[in-house]
Amino acid sequence: MINVPGSTERILISSAQIQQRVREMAAEIERDYHGPLYVVSVLKGAFIFVADLTRAIQNIPVRIEFMAISSYGNQKTSSGQVKVTRDLDVNIEGHDVLIVEDIIDSGVTLSYLKRLLEQRHPKSLAIATLLDKPERRKAHVDVKYIGFQIPDEFVVGYGLDYAEDYRNLPDICVLAPEG
Ligand code: IMP
Ligand code: MG
Repeated sequence: MINVPGSTERILISSAQIQQRVREMAAEIERDYHGPLYVVSVLKGAFIFVADLTRAIQNIPVRIEFMAISSYGNQKTSSGQVKVTRDLDVNIEGHDVLIVEDIIDSGVTLSYLKRLLEQRHPKSLAIATLLDKPERRKAHVDVKYIGFQIPDEFVVGYGLDYAEDYRNLPDICVLAPEG
C-alpha cells in the first residue's frame, strides 16, 4: 500500500461504488425529510462520507454539526468505553437530527450517542451509516440508512483509519493482518 509502506490491502468497495450508493442514500434522505436537517457528523471517521453525502443532498436545507467520540484508542477492537471528546455547539431541541457514522461494529458507540442526544429532545433522531458489520453487534441500534453491509473484516480508507493511518484512501480496503 502506498499509504504506509510495507502493508498490503485489497479493495472491498471501490470509490465508484461508494459514490453511487451515496447518491442513492441522499435521495432517500431527501424523500424522508423537509428540513432543516441537522446532520451530526461523528469525527473523525465520518468526515469524508458526510462531505459527500451532504453535497448529494440539494433539495432540503441541511446544517452540518460535528461531534467527536472515542472508543477505540489505537486498537482494532472496541475498548467498550465511549467518551465524548468534542460536543455539539448547537441546541438540537425540536430539530430533525441525523447522526452520520462511518461504520457500526459492536454498536456500543452509536447506542451510547443515540441515548445521549435523545436526552436533548430532538424532534426526530435517526442514524445513517456508510458501513455495517452486523456479525459483530453487541448493542442493538436502530439504523435508518445503511450504505453497505460488510463481513467481519477490518477496513480502512474513505475516512476510516487504523491507528490514524489510511483515512485518505479513496476506496474502502481490507487491511492485511500484520506480519
Ligand atoms: P462500535 O462502537 O464497535 O460500533 O465501533 C464504531 C467505531 O469503531 C467506528 O466509528 C470506527 O471508528 C471504529 N471501527 C469499527 N470497525 C472498524 C473498521 O473495520 N475499520 C476502522 N474503524 C472501525
Ligand atoms: Mg475511528
